[in-house]
Amino acid sequence: MTSPRSFSLAVRTESDVGAAIGVARRFGTALGFSDVAVNCIATVAAELANNLWMHADNGGRIRIAWVDVPHSGIEISAIDDGPGIGDIELAMTEGYSTTGTLGCGLSGVRRLIDTFDIVSRKGGSTFIVARKWLTGGYRCRTHSEPWR
Ligand SMILES: Nc1ncnc2c1ncn2[C@@H]1O[C@H](COP(=O)(O)OP(=O)(O)OP(=O)(O)O)[C@@H](O)[C@H]1O
Ligand SMILES: [Mg+2]
Repeated sequence: MTSPRSFSLAVRTESDVGAAIGVARRFGTALGFSDVAVNCIATVAAELANNLWMHADNGGRIRIAWVDVPHSGIEISAIDDGPGIGDIELAMTEGYSTTGTLGCGLSGVRRLIDTFDIVSRKGGSTFIVARKWLTGGYRCRTHSEPWR
């Protein structure tokens, strides 16, 4: 049996956040990331999943995937159906939170990974894609897959 190249799960509850962290950790380990890097990957999954649970009206989905373009690595993405983010720069500012928490989630994710993209608008969906590349000669092979 081969390992899946991607896995997606719904995040609506705190226990779903834990499940997303577990999947991210397993993918990161299977790909050959170092223990330190796996912890970064797990933290990214935790923050993105936590935001789905805390800020998205109906939760959302986390997807973890192996990627090989333009480099080998892991992709952690999050999508939801609103309420969206009106001011992305502000939301990315360390210490900014609309729920009275630390406001370090998005800014922390940005620091932990190699590429970070966010698409959102007030009243619409939020879509975030974070990627971390393998180093040290490790390679993985995968193929594009539709969002599941
Ligand atoms: N998926 C989302 N949908 C709508 N708003 C979001 C979403 N993710 C983040 N935000 C907004 O961006 C702000 C900053 O997010 P960030 O994760 O940095 O901090 P936080 O979740 O408020 O606190 P922390 O993550 O430190 O517990 C949030 O307070 C919220 O207003
Ligand atoms: Mg957060």
